[in-house]
Amino acid sequence: MNYNPYDNFIATLDQAAKAIGMQEKDYAVLKHPERELKVAIPVKMDDGTVKYFDGYRIQHSTLRGPAKGGIRYSPNVEINEVKALAAWMTVKCAVSNIPYGGAKGGVCVDPTKLSEGELERLTRKYTIAILPMIGPDRDVPAPDMGTNSKIMNWIMDTYSAFQGNAIFGVVTGKDIENGGSLGRTAATGYGVTLMAKEYMAMYAMDPKNVSIVIQGMGNVGGVSAEMLYNLGCKIVAVSDISGGIRNMNGLNIHEIVDFVKQKKLLIDYKADNLEHIDNHALLTTKCTFLIPAALENQITEEIVPELKASVIIEAANGPTTVAADKLLAQRKIPVLPDILCNSGGVIASYCEWVQNVDVTVWDEERVNQTIELYMKAALKEVLAIGNKYGINYRLAAYGLALKRLAASSRLRGFMP
Ligand SMILES: NC(=O)c1ccc[n+]([C@@H]2O[C@H](COP(=O)([O-])OP(=O)(O)OC[C@H]3O[C@@H](n4cnc5c(N)ncnc54)[C@H](O)[C@@H]3O)[C@@H](O)[C@H]2O)c1
Repeated sequence: MNYNPYDNFIATLDQAAKAIGMQEKDYAVLKHPERELKVAIPVKMDDGTVKYFDGYRIQHSTLRGPAKGGIRYSPNVEINEVKALAAWMTVKCAVSNIPYGGAKGGVCVDPTKLSEGELERLTRKYTIAILPMIGPDRDVPAPDMGTNSKIMNWIMDTYSAFQGNAIFGVVTGKDIENGGSLGRTAATGYGVTLMAKEYMAMYAMDPKNVSIVIQGMGNVGGVSAEMLYNLGCKIVAVSDISGGIRNMNGLNIHEIVDFVKQKKLLIDYKADNLEHIDNHALLTTKCTFLIPAALENQITEEIVPELKASVIIEAANGPTTVAADKLLAQRKIPVLPDILCNSGGVIASYCEWVQNVDVTVWDEERVNQTIELYMKAALKEVLAIGNKYGINYRLAAYGLALKRLAASSRLRGFMP
């Protein structure tokens, strides 16, 4: 069966609307992305040939502010994935209550197969192709899987060249020396850790008794692993694209993060009492928190019956399918949803954008305090809606977003 993540989004939206008693006409606007652009990107390769790559930029909604969302470079990028990622940004920004809409972009490319020069030429050509759509007041891209601060610097530079002056606020996730913000790199993992901490506090759990499995050791998974390890939690298994490693007595996370930072794969990591495991064994390892921090569509209905996690904390975007969600509810495994847990990144991006458009610089503490303020407020509202309607965390988070977005739509009225 072909998995369509945008259908996943619509199904969850409908369920949440039903649960909070909202009529379809009041949120139908969210089922239709505002703008979808597909571009062909011609890139001069190092050997002199020209290769064409497919690229996308989709603005799902600008109801609450400029569209906001990352750019993904991956060989698996396709339009329904980009649409879903854009829509999740809309609801995520609404849950966090930051004044942004939702967007996402992607290029169908394996960035590891390109030279530095090819990557730069691809990025600049892609930026030119989506230029009419982006801008500090329109649509503000950021990094996602396969992209990083260097790529954001090139986007900023290309956009600025066409405008005739330096415009830092066109993109977030840039390097500090190029208008980036302190705290941005670790922000998503910081937010994931914050939500895990709040959950432990809610249920009087001692971090020392909490065991954790993390799928993905990139920016989000790696930072979350280190921060949760520093809190005293035991990280028992982690993985990357090459596979997983496990030690039920706890992994040496600092050493593993250092290893991964050297661009090495976990399949080559060696330590005493270490098991190398596949993705299935990783996801079904017994633990308190299972944290998917890699891709969408990982917690499926096939795997739910085998899960041995007490709670799922979603760090990746869309890691759980709708069908899996139903089974998780039956098994009474709570899920802290992506649109709440991984919002630290977009909140820090918001801080970066505010600094850029205000022409000012904040210290890291102010960025972290802002993340904490917005995320704790969002959690409180999600819990309140969950209690009021007797629904799970995901539906409550969508319910909160629906209320805020439907209010914007109603207040702005219908044009013409
Ligand atoms: N970076 C952010 O600020 C941010 C913010 C919000 C959400 N997210 C989401 O978090 C997730 C991870 O993003 P990231 O920035 O850490 O990406 P990243 O590119 O830094 O890391 C991705 C990790 O996933 C691993 N991976 C890739 N394919 C895999 C597979 N098939 N099985 C297991 N592991 C696999 C990679 O090896 C890597 O360790 C994505 O869903 C992204 O959309 C990221």
